[in-house]
Amino acid sequence: MAIDRGQFSSRLGFVLAAAGSAVGLGNLVAFPVMASKNGGAVFLLVYLLFVALICFPVLLAEIAIGRHTRRNPVGAFTALSGGSQGWQLAGMLAILTPFMIAVFYTVVTIWILIFLFRTVTGGLDMLATASAFPEMTGSPGIFPWFILLQVVVFGVLLGGVKGGIERLARVLMPTLAVMLIGLIAFVLTLDDAGLGVSYYLIPDFSRFNGGVINAALNQAFFSLSLGMGIMITYGSYFNKNDHIVGSGKMVAIADTSVAFMAGLLILPAIFAFNPETNPDDLSTSSVGLIFTYLPQIFLSMQDGVGYFGASLAAAVFFALVFFAALTSLVSILEIPISYMIDEWNFSRKKAVLVQAVAVTVCALLASLSFGMSPGLTSFIDYGGGTKSLFDLIADTFSEVILPLVGLFACMLCATRWKEGFVDELTDGDATFKGSVLQRYLSFSLRTFVPVVLLFVFINSVAAKYF
Ligand code: PFF
Repeated sequence: MAIDRGQFSSRLGFVLAAAGSAVGLGNLVAFPVMASKNGGAVFLLVYLLFVALICFPVLLAEIAIGRHTRRNPVGAFTALSGGSQGWQLAGMLAILTPFMIAVFYTVVTIWILIFLFRTVTGGLDMLATASAFPEMTGSPGIFPWFILLQVVVFGVLLGGVKGGIERLARVLMPTLAVMLIGLIAFVLTLDDAGLGVSYYLIPDFSRFNGGVINAALNQAFFSLSLGMGIMITYGSYFNKNDHIVGSGKMVAIADTSVAFMAGLLILPAIFAFNPETNPDDLSTSSVGLIFTYLPQIFLSMQDGVGYFGASLAAAVFFALVFFAALTSLVSILEIPISYMIDEWNFSRKKAVLVQAVAVTVCALLASLSFGMSPGLTSFIDYGGGTKSLFDLIADTFSEVILPLVGLFACMLCATRWKEGFVDELTDGDATFKGSVLQRYLSFSLRTFVPVVLLFVFINSVAAKYF
């Protein structure tokens, strides 16, 4: 159903909203873990190449599809394919994926919230111990935090205070960047941090393998919020007279810069605190890595600023990370909500309430998979091991499905909407048509981008499940 949509008031409005969605736990938590697991500098190099050569064209394709059709992903895919049911199903995947991502994202956001609370209440030294993270994830003490977080998230979605959140993001996002730079400068002064800098910035090509390709592409998709309907939905609010390409560039650069900085903070810290670290052992790292090293970084400031100063710095940082996660979470949930409003004629209130109940129930179940429920902790066997419900959701929806939905978006542009796609990108900048970039985008989306996405999808299925 065609709908009368609101629009971003300016190009900057789009860039800030899209960057607010893109910059989140994917950059600050997942990226450093992925980089440390997958060979450091080799991962970084492949990641940067993928962002520039593969993800940027997909980002523009998704924004263009959204702006042209002014619909949610299902409506957009159906409209562009001339009503095909197969494409409608592909669009459904772009609704289900953000919902499932919101489920495990909610759990990780709660961990950040608990870290913030414990830091504020004087427990920074306790958080820096190796047992703090598993104790937190495996204890029923996290349940009340669900209520608090869901009241905030769904309050924002219902109360129409998103404008306020976006205004706040203008101040808090740059603050996060400045704080990251300050923290990096501090960590780089620590003994042995140089070992981590080398691991992160000097490629050792013997560490390159198929797993690095998969990990880098999946991480780049997740980080840029691709393959999950979000950029299509944001594109549908994008002003007709603004230039998609320039805005896309700003979003990609902002997102990649934050991820790069998070890596430059955490990897040197790993080596500074454990100089005997063998990079080969990092291949088994998990998110617990971040939750252990971040408190250690702050705690090591004690000599200079005292325990109170270190705790204050940690609290400000966790608050900023929480805010980045909140803007992402609000944006993820907007996808299934706008779908229900557009296609099922739900009122906003009803759609928000249905989503609130569904996400809370699923996220509670996922949170039980850290030891509280044996059945959900050892939920299913695949990929050579027993996995929890949380693992199953995270593996499937943050890795395997993303390149597939990206592939659908490219195929739609390449087969059903060739000329229209270029015209859509040309709106707002007449010099774009015929430029080298335009020719690169048209060529890449028709040739190697879908091939790489298909390859990574098949490879991820094989590597994850078999
Ligand atoms: N890109 C966000 C991050 O890197 O944390 C995560 C995210 C945001 C996922 C929005 C999905 C989404 F719709």
